[in-house]
Amino acid sequence: MRWARNVRLGDWTVTLVDVHVTAKSLADEKRRRAVLSPQEAETYNALRFEKRRREWLAGRLAAKLALRRRLRASGGTAPPFARIAVSNRDGASGPPVSPIAGVVSISHSHGLAAAVAGSAPVGVDIERLRPFNASLRTVFLNDAERAWLGRAEAEQPELPTLGWAFKEAFCKARLIGIQDGLPGPEWRGWDDNGRLLWRWPLEAAPRKKDAIFANWQAHGRLIDDYAIVVVGASPKRKAERT
Ligand SMILES: CC(C)(COP(=O)(O)OP(=O)(O)OC[C@H]1O[C@@H](n2cnc3c(N)ncnc32)[C@H](O)[C@@H]1OP(=O)(O)O)[C@@H](O)C(=O)NCCC(=O)NCCS
Repeated sequence: MRWARNVRLGDWTVTLVDVHVTAKSLADEKRRRAVLSPQEAETYNALRFEKRRREWLAGRLAAKLALRRRLRASGGTAPPFARIAVSNRDGASGPPVSPIAGVVSISHSHGLAAAVAGSAPVGVDIERLRPFNASLRTVFLNDAERAWLGRAEAEQPELPTLGWAFKEAFCKARLIGIQDGLPGPEWRGWDDNGRLLWRWPLEAAPRKKDAIFANWQAHGRLIDDYAIVVVGASPKRKAERT
């Protein structure tokens, strides 16, 4: 793939960035200075593992591209990359936080980073297609999900990865960790337009104050060996309301 590109998932645009190409072209500190704020550079330098550094860097780039795109789409001017500092809420971990109003979500997997920016809650997850053993399935799928998936995956072997990405993206849109939110909503498949179908199982149904989820949608897409899912409040509906 090209080093960066945008793909559509439902009403969202996801920015994909190649982790290895980014690492190579920003290997030089001087070049990184054009992209990272001083605080981001500090965080980057403090990361101990090379793999984490590379993924973190590509995630920043994807997030900045997504935020600049969103600013331009709403008629604003996009500041230079280094002025859009995307930090993490908890030091070098936790949800991403940007100085630009709205939200941004980041994911990385095996050489690709993905980001989505929006004005309403949104979460993205990218996963390289892989098998899921029975015990892992019990972590993120309930009985009903395991039953239909077991029947359907002979024809669509990518379904378990897609389901995992759905649950991860849902957690991210809620700004919680996967350990706090699974199995969460019950996944019921996807339609020909890539829209994921889900409902709340009785025991996990959100309280009245969480009725915001009524506006939430999920879209998935398979690109090469990857499953990508975006979950959140539809940006179109928000635009219609405002
Ligand atoms: C942290 C978590 C949000 C995603 O983790 P992940 O799938 O391992 O990693 P991803 O690459 O998809 O996403 C990481 C990004 O999510 C973002 N993120 C982290 N915590 C977040 C949270 N609570 N809410 C929203 N976004 C969050 C960060 O931007 C992070 O990237 P960065 O640190 O480079 O900025 C969470 O769902 C989790 O705890 N995952 C554990 C995954 C796991 O158990 N995997 C084993 C499966 S076999």
